[in-house]
This record gives sequence, C-alpha cells and structure tokens, in this order.
Amino acid sequence: MELYELTRPVFFVGFMGAGKTSVSRKLARKFGLAAVDMDTYIERREGRKVKEIFAQDGEEAFRDIEQAVLVELTNKDPLLVSCGGGVIKRPENREVLKSGGFVIHLRISADEARGRIGDLSTRPLFNDLDDARALAESRMPLYDEVADVTIDTAGRGVSALAYEVRDVLEREGVLCRQQK
Ligand code: S3P
Repeated sequence: MELYELTRPVFFVGFMGAGKTSVSRKLARKFGLAAVDMDTYIERREGRKVKEIFAQDGEEAFRDIEQAVLVELTNKDPLLVSCGGGVIKRPENREVLKSGGFVIHLRISADEARGRIGDLSTRPLFNDLDDARALAESRMPLYDEVADVTIDTAGRGVSALAYEVRDVLEREGVLCRQQK
C-alpha cells in the first residue's frame, strides 16, 4: 500500500447524511491516514450518545463540547476530521476551520440526505423533512464560507468521492506521498 501523510488537518463539513464519516474512513483505509469522527470522539469523551447529550443537557451544551473538541483535534498531528453537520453554527468554529486546516464541503440536499440516513433517531435535528430542508438551506452559505473546496455528492458513491478528495488534496499539497 502506498502511504501518504497530511501537511494540515482536513475537515469534512456538510449536512447530515452527506457521507463525511464514510468518505473520511475510506480515505484513511486506502491511504494509511488517521481519521477521527467528531461525534464519535464526543461520545467516547462524554460516555453518552449525542442524542442523549441533546436530550439531557440541550443543544447549547452539545455545542460547547463540540467547540472544545474542534480546537483539540485541530492541535493534534494532522488528521482527517469528519465534523458534525452543525459545527459551522458558531462563528468561532468557522474561524478555527478556516485558519486551522483544509476544509471540504460535501454537499447534499435534505431530500437526498433523508434517503441515506438509516436511523433518524440518531439525528436529533433531523425530525421532519420540511424542517431539515429549511435547516439545510440556512446552512449552505456557512458550509461554503468555510470551504476550500465544495464537492457535490448527489448520486455518487463513497469510493468515487474518496478518490476525488485524494486528487484535490494532492493538488493542493495537503496530501503527500510519504518519503521513506
Ligand atoms: C448535527 C449533526 C450531527 C450531530 C448532531 C447535530 C447538526 O452530526 O453532530 O446530531 O446540527 O447538523 P452528522 O452531521 O454527522 O449527522
């Protein structure tokens, strides 16, 4: 296997169901990189599920944890980081994303996302399709504000997206073949 390394952290942003975690995992496996999913990291750190944090402490408490974790992950050796869909809500996070690494927006519409998300109960902010459409629409400008690159995911599989991301990262000098 050809081994690669990252020169900067890579953040995947986009609406729920865009494939941020799957694409980042696929890249990690194919190219020998380390990947971290922010929600999984938060769940391990807190010892409870994201939906429990929302239910027990409310969204703002979750956002506080998410903000702290974003800074923590940005300061580690460069990783592939799949971010929760709401990471762009806080202006402070948008600044960290823009200045801390290379940001890829995996774009998806709420309608397509609904078809991809198996268990909606894991997504406390995706209850109703009309609400999700409105939320997606309000967030698109924020994803684009932080993104270095936007990739449309409509009708595309995880492997095709992973290879496209690899090409972009190589071209931008974010991903380099490891020197032995
Ligand atoms: C959220 C997205 C979720 C998770 C939480 C809030 C959001 O992550 O962080 O439920 O506000 O869009 P995914 O985008 O990985 O589903």
